[in-house]
Amino acid sequence: MKGLILSGGKGTRLYPLTYTRAKQLIPVANKPVLVRVIEAIRSAGVEEIGIVVGETAPEIKEALGNGQAWDVKLTYIHQVSPDGLAHAVKISRDFLQDEPFVMFLGDNVIQGGIGELIRSFAASDWNSQIVLKEVDNPSAYGVAKLRPDGSIEQLIEKPKDPPSNLALVGIYMFDHHVFEAVEAIKPSKRGELEITDAIQWLVERGYRVYPHIHQGWWIDTGKPTDMLEANAHVLEEVVPSLDPSAQIDEQSQVDKRVTVQAGARIVRSVVRGPAIIGMNAVIEDAYIGPFTSIYHDVTVRDAQIERCIILEKSEVVGLGRGMILRDSLIGRHARVGRSTELPMGVKLNLGDYSNILI
Ligand code: DAU
Repeated sequence: MKGLILSGGKGTRLYPLTYTRAKQLIPVANKPVLVRVIEAIRSAGVEEIGIVVGETAPEIKEALGNGQAWDVKLTYIHQVSPDGLAHAVKISRDFLQDEPFVMFLGDNVIQGGIGELIRSFAASDWNSQIVLKEVDNPSAYGVAKLRPDGSIEQLIEKPKDPPSNLALVGIYMFDHHVFEAVEAIKPSKRGELEITDAIQWLVERGYRVYPHIHQGWWIDTGKPTDMLEANAHVLEEVVPSLDPSAQIDEQSQVDKRVTVQAGARIVRSVVRGPAIIGMNAVIEDAYIGPFTSIYHDVTVRDAQIERCIILEKSEVVGLGRGMILRDSLIGRHARVGRSTELPMGVKLNLGDYSNILI
């Protein structure tokens, strides 16, 4: 069994963060989503992983290298333009050969492992296995309609009028027959070769495609709100730890569900978990509320924040006690502060496509 991770695409819904960074590298609980995907595949016993990359390839390569750090062998597969998930499969044929494989979208976060799924697929004579999840907004995803006996009747990509509330999760298992399907299908209305259409093609030709309905949570981290939600879910599951090199002074209160990473300093502050304070972060005269991830080298001083993701080397300073920064995703090297100039007002220096609520 091989692994195939899809990490091309543009990530437009996460602008402005994704102007300068691959969306799959944005961390959830201080670990990039892409690294979580690699770990999930590795813990299912799959060591040979192909990774489809697009224009953000240099950054992804720099972050992952040859995969040795996760005990996997990574092969990069270049996709010139993001022409669809089925197109990504098509160009990966040389890497995959005729071996069965698990394909995992590089921006999906899912509760629990995929070991059980992979084992059942490897032991079966199925041609494909897909994962489904009941959702409230099926139109945003590929959707499956099942027959009363649980078999697949129809799969359709982002339908206006969804035939069910079962969305396709970004985890798929295939044998080599998928290559016939990706060669046969035509681009969709949005101009992409859809994996949903390729699977529908397999179903129509009588190939054995089985659905597994996932019971835990699943998040496609397309938008900032999704990132915050994924962050909250993952933080709830992190086993908290306190690095011996972290410093917490006696005037601080840090509750049990907080992870404090190497070199972090917490001074005269209150930190309520679940939360994570990254390497060399400085938290001073501050309140850090639940579901917050502070990435490495961040400073939070004289400020209160809750349910936020703050990326590396940013600062949140001087907001005082009168306000709380909440439900926010702050990029790298950003600064959130308070102006002392008159007249009192809000001064913004925002990147394109930013979204501010005051
Ligand atoms: O997350 C689950 C959904 O993923 C499914 O329900 C849909 O059926 C499926 O089409 C897909 O929809 P999205 O619109 O969310 O796909 P997105 O364009 O966000 O791409 C998913 C990942 O695949 C992302 O990490 C980028 C990568 N990708 C995407 C395209 C279009 C590639 O590597 N190459 C591509 O050509």
